[in-house]
Amino acid sequence: MLRDESTCNTYNYGDALYWDARYVQEGGAFDWYQRYSSLRPFVRHFIPTSSPVLMVGCGNAVMSEDMVKDGYEDIMNIDISSVAINMMKRKYEHIPQLKYMQMDVRDMSFFPDESFDGVIDKGTLDSLMCGNDAPISAAQMLGEVSRLLKPGGIYMLITYGDPTVRMPHLSRPVYNWKVRLYVIPRPGFQTPEGCGSSTKSDLEPVPITEKGLLPADFVLEDPDCHFIYVCKKDDAELSNPPTDGFSRLTVDGLYV
Ligand SMILES: C[S@@+](CC[C@H](N)C(=O)[O-])C[C@H]1O[C@@H](n2cnc3c(N)ncnc32)[C@H](O)[C@@H]1O
Repeated sequence: MLRDESTCNTYNYGDALYWDARYVQEGGAFDWYQRYSSLRPFVRHFIPTSSPVLMVGCGNAVMSEDMVKDGYEDIMNIDISSVAINMMKRKYEHIPQLKYMQMDVRDMSFFPDESFDGVIDKGTLDSLMCGNDAPISAAQMLGEVSRLLKPGGIYMLITYGDPTVRMPHLSRPVYNWKVRLYVIPRPGFQTPEGCGSSTKSDLEPVPITEKGLLPADFVLEDPDCHFIYVCKKDDAELSNPPTDGFSRLTVDGLYV
C-alpha cells in the first residue's frame, strides 16, 4: 500500500505556497486524519502533561487546543505557512499554553538541542514526502526532530504511511530510536459486518518484523487506516535487546 504515491499526485503538499493558498481560501479549523479525542490514549500514555511539546506542521488544527483543555501546559506549534500561523496566533492569543511560530521543520535551529519531551507530527512528514527531494527533506526533518528531543523523549508520527514507506526513514541508526507501531481506523470506519469501529488496537502495539514490515498474516481491517509510530529517543546500548515492548533498531534490523 504505497500511500505516498497515491496521495501526492493531485496536490503539491510539499510546497509552502500550496499551503498558504489553501489556508487563505479555507480559513477556519480542520484536523487531518484524526481528532485529539481518538489520539488521546496514545498522547496521554507517552507524553506527560507537564512536558514541553512541539507540534510540527500544526496547520489550523484544533488538536493543540484540545490538548491544553486536557491539561497540557506548554505546546510550541510551528508551520511553514505564515498564513496559518498568523491565523492561529490571533485565535489563541488568550491561551498562554499555546505558542505559534512560522518555521520550516527542516531547519529548526531556533530551538536549542534537547528542548522537548514530545514532538507530535500529524500529516507533516507525509506532506514532505510529496515534495521535491522527499528523502532529503525527510532526513533533514527527522534529524532536527532527533536533535530537539530530550533523551527518553517521544516523536509521535500519525501518518498514512505503512511500515514499508516509513520505517526506512525512522530506523536510521543515527537516531537510535526505539519504535512502537499502532494502527487505528479512520474516523467513522465500520467493520464490514457493521459491528462498529475497531478498538482492539488501542495501546496494543503491532509487531514489526526484522525487516521493519507488518507481519505477513496481519490483516488491516480498514485499508485506509492510519498508522501511529511512537519513536523513543534512547541512549541505551544498541546491543541490549529491549525489555519494554519497543522495537529497537540494530545495524541489521529490528528486535521485536
Ligand atoms: C496535512 S497538513 C496537517 C496539519 C495538522 N497537523 C493537522 O493534523 O491537521 C500538513 C501541514 O504541514 C505543513 N508543512 C508542510 N511542509 C512543512 C515544512 N517544511 N515545515 C513546516 N510545516 C510544513 C503544512 O503547512 C500543513 O499545515
